[in-house]
Amino acid sequence: MSERFSLNPDWYFKESFDEGDTAGQELSIYRKIDLPHTVKELPYNCFSHDETAMRSSYVRKLTVPEECRGKRAILEFMGVMARYELYVNGQFVSEHRGGYSRSRAEITGYLKDGENTIFVMVDSSEDPQIPPFGKTIDYMCFGGIYRDVNLIFTEETFIEDILARYEMEDGRVSLFPEIRIDHFGGAFDAEAVVTVRDADRQIVKRFSRFVRIKSGHSCPVLDRESLEDVHPWNIDNPYLYEVSVELMCGDRILDRKSVRTGFRTVSCRPDGFYLNGVKVKLIGLDRHQSFPYAGYAMPERCQRADAEILKNELHVNVVRTSHYLQSEGFLDRCDELGLLVFSEIPGWGCIGDENFKANSHQDIQDMIITQYNHPGIFIWSIRINESADDDEFYAKSNEIAHDLDPSRPTTGVRCIKHSHLLEDVYAYNDFIHRTHEVKHYRELVLVNQQAVTGLDYKVPFIVTEYSGHVYPVKPFDGEERKLRQAQIHALVQNANYARNDALGAIGWCAFDYQTHGDYGSGDKICYHGVSDIFRVPKYAAYVYSSQVDPEEEIVMEPCTLLARGENDDNKPIPFMVCTNCDYVEVELYGRSIGKFFPSLVYCSLPHPPIMVDEDPGHWADLWKGGTVIGYYKGKKVARRTYPRNAYLADLVVKLDDTRLHNTVADATRIVATFVDQCGNPLPYYNGIVQVETSNNLRVVGPEIIATVGGHIGFWIRTKPTGREETGAVTVRALNTKIPEKQFMIKLTPDPGVRCL
Ligand code: GAL
Repeated sequence: MSERFSLNPDWYFKESFDEGDTAGQELSIYRKIDLPHTVKELPYNCFSHDETAMRSSYVRKLTVPEECRGKRAILEFMGVMARYELYVNGQFVSEHRGGYSRSRAEITGYLKDGENTIFVMVDSSEDPQIPPFGKTIDYMCFGGIYRDVNLIFTEETFIEDILARYEMEDGRVSLFPEIRIDHFGGAFDAEAVVTVRDADRQIVKRFSRFVRIKSGHSCPVLDRESLEDVHPWNIDNPYLYEVSVELMCGDRILDRKSVRTGFRTVSCRPDGFYLNGVKVKLIGLDRHQSFPYAGYAMPERCQRADAEILKNELHVNVVRTSHYLQSEGFLDRCDELGLLVFSEIPGWGCIGDENFKANSHQDIQDMIITQYNHPGIFIWSIRINESADDDEFYAKSNEIAHDLDPSRPTTGVRCIKHSHLLEDVYAYNDFIHRTHEVKHYRELVLVNQQAVTGLDYKVPFIVTEYSGHVYPVKPFDGEERKLRQAQIHALVQNANYARNDALGAIGWCAFDYQTHGDYGSGDKICYHGVSDIFRVPKYAAYVYSSQVDPEEEIVMEPCTLLARGENDDNKPIPFMVCTNCDYVEVELYGRSIGKFFPSLVYCSLPHPPIMVDEDPGHWADLWKGGTVIGYYKGKKVARRTYPRNAYLADLVVKLDDTRLHNTVADATRIVATFVDQCGNPLPYYNGIVQVETSNNLRVVGPEIIATVGGHIGFWIRTKPTGREETGAVTVRALNTKIPEKQFMIKLTPDPGVRCL
């Protein structure tokens, strides 16, 4: 039976490569590192976009455990940017091209008794044969072994993957799993025993089928078995099942593998998106997987945390994995939370030569095989984002996707109109509301689908980007600019809710991200997010978060600093309140200036923002600060107070987690925000924060950091010791009298992970 070990800890790394390095000698010139790893930590901004392009060397020493001697050994890389060559004990084993896909290599014949040397040459230059490279790209791809590496020991027969294929109708599931097997030896018949467990781990079905196992790779599909009374997976109740397969030869278990899945139907129709037969308006955001300093190289907990922000804080129901395969941890969390996923292959604008096309087709296969069981994924996006038509290339792409997965629709994201629709859904990045083209942007928000497709009939259609570069907003921008970004998002989502000819709209984008010099704000950051790169919300984020049902959570976020001098004419009004309250009451000049109700400009939204647009005061009046009070069902449910004499009062420090694992590196985010005496953030305070850590915890990036817009986020990462420990994090607001804050973080081994 196969066993999996993590190889994340204890690597050696150097920022160069020579042909003579592949035997992994001269380790004294290497640095000791742990995975996930970036070839170079970058500054927060203003780096050179070439800094991570290099050929680098990774070495790992390895002794095969006694109990695994004589077994087959398979190395598994979950993500290496962008190409690697693998050598074991100085001998070349294999090469992989593609920075976002899982790859495996059998190393059995290369291993010896005693210590072995794994050497990986990582090439993180932008090779035009590997998507998304070839021209310009509006995102950084970084470099390195930035996701997990595992070593799998197995007998002759190895279950590589299980695709839990099924069809579902009226609560009844017809299950016919495909077992992807890699077998060393002659062909034979084996028994596949399938066990299905529900969310309480109760067995709901057990059945077996005989399968022919061939030499090398084979993919038998089992005859159907039905499951009754299945709990469907949906966005409010993301019910998950486990499907396990044991391959038996007589009484001997050859291999066993379990996958998690959920059962649901998806259907994309010209009039909308249907989940289990029920129409759901898709409202979502695009996501890049990068973080400050470490780029892509952040442990799975941080990837998972992004899914939590999208679902639990921004309350969207769909995310697009723009523009590449995202981590299994992220996709797993989307399944657990009930977040739908629009999953996309790597690419950005350019279609390269025949090798590029072959690599893109490989990406489609890798995406579908590794991500097949995620119930959250409802569609495969198989075009190079915003590329020109190339019917031969894309007809093949579509065929590959449909052959591997007839159960999900395909699409491809376009920025061009009248593109040839070869897939099931026309996806379009609609930036019509860009203000320099359309002065009265309020009137022209989204384009009619038939004006986009050029067809004289309606097709399944989705908007996959809007806003973004049309209106970038920095965390330290003025209130008016932040408000305008929020209004653009509100206008587009309002039109999304009003129209009946689209599945939904996904906005550009969730979080600010690092980019190449061709794009961004001159400092290599694209400030297109509704939240900044630290995942701290801007006003636009509240347009989304306030759409939640008030019975679940009350949201009242005034898009204002309520400071007289921040706006034109020395007036704090008008401002907008993103809220799901019935109305708000505003107090200024020491008295109520009235009640304000949801704006009719956005009346198709479930909870339209409220415009506060009347200021009865005069600039010479004594400014007494103000209060915004939210009412729901006649009761006061939310209150925000803005003092007249706001001054720096505190540094509020919030940790996402106080318990971390240390079998392999783990990490969590901390956000420090300077606030006034009423707890309001002070975006124009230029603070400096110092972070100190103890006991095998380290700060990712610098330890003395300047705030960006009055706050700063940073990540704390564990060193893999596998010991129970308590680490401390101390945060100081330099040059202030604010007392330092200290937090204890409990570090424990992860019982689910074994390292070698
Ligand atoms: C799109 C592109 C995205 C991003 C966005 C900025 O054209 O697909 O990757 O660059 O523009 O608004």
